[in-house]
Amino acid sequence: MRIVGRTFLGLVLLVGFVVQGSAEEGIDISEESFTCLAEMTPVRGFFVDNLLGDVEATVEVAESPTGGRYPAGSVVQLVPTEVMVKQPEGTSPATGDWEFFELTVSAGGSQIAKRGFEDVVNRFGGKCLDCHAKAEPQWDMVCEKGHGCDPLPFTPAMVRAIQKTDPRCAEKPALSDVEKQALAALQRSLGAGN
Ligand code: HEC
Repeated sequence: MRIVGRTFLGLVLLVGFVVQGSAEEGIDISEESFTCLAEMTPVRGFFVDNLLGDVEATVEVAESPTGGRYPAGSVVQLVPTEVMVKQPEGTSPATGDWEFFELTVSAGGSQIAKRGFEDVVNRFGGKCLDCHAKAEPQWDMVCEKGHGCDPLPFTPAMVRAIQKTDPRCAEKPALSDVEKQALAALQRSLGAGN
């Protein structure tokens, strides 16, 4: 009897270990996870990183002409305040496991204003998922241009100006005259909307 009891106890402990070891955990993300855009890796017009350290795997998908699924840990940004982070597979099937973030940025760094999966809304009242879900499946909800999303009402010069004036960056590259004008026009249009 005693041997049977011990064997049983051993089995319980073993099963407990296996179950605990295989539990998939979400990636821990805090305001420190985000940096100045210039410290990320540029791909065409946007920037990528990987919170699990495998930025090569993220760049490989971003640069693939046929698309693919971004690996867990991938961080994607176009402008300083809006971020998509890939959580482990199964975390949120409805968003392709992307977690959406709206940040508030300043010289002091980033603060997380909003985060979540299906219901995050940007400062203009648009739901991240509604637009990004329109990307064709092989692009994994990354819109860029020509991936099937409705285009944003910003010119390339406006986007470059916003990227170059990321307040979190210690050194800011100079703006061209066209970018300066684009930024002024953008600020006027945003001001008029308030
Ligand atoms: C009105 C539609 C719309 C909404 C709402 C929207 N996006 Fe986007 N987003 C786009 C489009 C279109 C692009 C591509 C712009 C380009 O490259 O010209 C884009 C680009 C991006 C990118 C760069 C990678 C990519 O997909 O090209 C990220 C990251 C991003 N958005 C995150 C967010 C987050 C986070 C939210 C919500 C807080 C959000 N977006 C809300 C349409 C939208």
